[in-house]
Amino acid sequence: MATVIAFANQKGGVGKTTFAVQFAYFLRLKKRKSVLFLDMDAQASASETLLEGEALTSTTSQDLFNDEVAEVRIQKTARGIDLIGSEQSPEGYDVEALPLAQAMNPKKHLEAVVQNYDFVIIDCPPSLGRRLAGSLICADYVICPIKLSGYAVSGLKSLFGTILQIKKRSNRRLKTLGVAVNEFQDTAAQRDALFAVTQALPGLLFKSKVRSRSPIDVASRGKPIFEVRNGQRASEEMAGLFGEILKRIKDNA
Ligand SMILES: Nc1ncnc2c1ncn2[C@@H]1O[C@H](COP(=O)(O)OP(=O)(O)OP(=O)(O)O)[C@@H](O)[C@H]1O
Ligand SMILES: [Mg+2]
Repeated sequence: MATVIAFANQKGGVGKTTFAVQFAYFLRLKKRKSVLFLDMDAQASASETLLEGEALTSTTSQDLFNDEVAEVRIQKTARGIDLIGSEQSPEGYDVEALPLAQAMNPKKHLEAVVQNYDFVIIDCPPSLGRRLAGSLICADYVICPIKLSGYAVSGLKSLFGTILQIKKRSNRRLKTLGVAVNEFQDTAAQRDALFAVTQALPGLLFKSKVRSRSPIDVASRGKPIFEVRNGQRASEEMAGLFGEILKRIKDNA
């Protein structure tokens, strides 16, 4: 049975794509797991990273919201991760205006496909709309990357509200696995914000924190962090986080 994990936060630029892509590399290349990556973001950043310059030929995540999909096409990528990609629509058309009921469609279309994998990783968009709902309906677990600031806690409230609604109405399996701190800096302000998040969300914060490190930005151009020059510390921090994620999944099983 595949474990389906969504990386979600409606706040932009907190590390959803970075963590999702690097976790997929980690699972595939370090743990030898079969991985399907579902890029649910219309910005298509994860698709761009994983495709390494190849053209997208898979069914798009946008197509998955249609009532009928003739065949779900999966694309093999260079590093062995299978992809259902996303494409920036030139007309600006997107699924956000569709009736909410259509957010059930991705799960319906992917039901058979996901059985072929150990893990399905979903990169969510920075919004609380249909694409996020569609992602959370497919997922077993959601992981929320955050950057620490005075707004970190209030920002998570509306996300957790959405998660709770989806859990009640459409996907009882859904569980928030944890909150992952990204671009951590050991400053008084960040330590204060960390304290506030820990108090507000007991037990949810992962111990491992990823600091702001330039090799991670290099890795966003299509490399596993453990292959990036000078990326050792960043790689260790990420491996610490990914180990904790796998442990929580195992403990929950
Ligand atoms: N720990 C880090 N150190 C340095 N750069 C980072 C780190 N984490 C993320 N970045 C960079 O910050 C930018 C935003 O990260 P990312 O795209 O993963 O965020 P996101 O939450 O997916 O954004 P969006 O909401 O737009 O989808 C990227 O250029 C990424 O390479
Ligand atoms: Mg992103």
